[in-house]
Amino acid sequence: MRFYPQQAMKGSMKKILILTSGGDAPGMNPAIRAAVRSAIHQGVQVYASHYGYQGLIDQKIERLYYSSVANCIQLGGTILKTDRCLAFYEKEQRRRCLDFLDSEGIEGLIVIGGDGSFRGASTLQSEGGPAVIGIPATIDNDISGTEYTIGFDTARNTALEAIDRVRDTASSHNRDFLVEVMGRNAGFLAVDVGLAGGAEFILTPEFNLPISELASKVNDTQRKKLSSIIVVAESDQPGRSLQIAKELNQLTNKTYRVCILGHMQRGGTPSALDRKIATLMGAYAVNALIDGSNNQMITRNFGRLSLANFPNPEKPSRRFDNQELLDINSLISR
Ligand code: F6P
Repeated sequence: MRFYPQQAMKGSMKKILILTSGGDAPGMNPAIRAAVRSAIHQGVQVYASHYGYQGLIDQKIERLYYSSVANCIQLGGTILKTDRCLAFYEKEQRRRCLDFLDSEGIEGLIVIGGDGSFRGASTLQSEGGPAVIGIPATIDNDISGTEYTIGFDTARNTALEAIDRVRDTASSHNRDFLVEVMGRNAGFLAVDVGLAGGAEFILTPEFNLPISELASKVNDTQRKKLSSIIVVAESDQPGRSLQIAKELNQLTNKTYRVCILGHMQRGGTPSALDRKIATLMGAYAVNALIDGSNNQMITRNFGRLSLANFPNPEKPSRRFDNQELLDINSLISR
């Protein structure tokens, strides 16, 4: 068994593998495309594992060529498939993957996904795996250390379009709606679409206002509105807006209807911003591996790409600031 050096020698990388892992995000394909093209252009062979880490466990990889990534820049989802691979948490399975990667001569790994996927990559690396670079991709935009993750812009535009449609019917019928958007740990998506969609109030996983308080705020609104929209992030309970609506309907003189946007937010053709950032990150990841970087992810802060350590496993996801959301909520409920 050959163990990989902690830091590959600059310019020595000849064979890399790319995979997408965790929840899909629009923009993964442009990132794959850019990484593949950039690697081949620099004389590096590229392989893919399908279904994320599951492909490594199944010991199935496929060589990629320019033609493998033709006409995928505009496609949502991931052409490499993805999985939330629970088996990869088992050391024995990772050992299998390590032996396989070693036998295939894979020297570098590009992992496109969220903090869970990065944790997997970093663990594999610390157990003797190839050099690894992460590309942050999740519609939640909640990975610590980067202000932007691939997929966020497309998802917020998709959710916003849906909210605009709900607004048409809400206004025609003088109705009140709760619109539930995704966001497991953080409310970045909810805040952006709530603000842009003219919501009356925004609830996020970080901002757990008791429903009685929300009801008194709703009853308190000085202007009498004929229709309104409250945006709720699903947090770790998809469908939680149904219960919130039930309670609000008992505590207010309104009858909230519920619209749960669900997985439609993860689909669709990536926006211009996601394609642009994904393309730059894909190429950046290849250059980072060739330059000998390892165990790091690409970040985008203040509009610039750079490399940073993977998030601290104790605090892998960033949270929306509660005081800022309080201020936003008081602004939009006027
Ligand atoms: O990828 C992030 C996310 O879309 C969260 O917003 C959501 O809570 C979760 O994934 C849903 O995951 P799954 O598709 O596995 O149900």
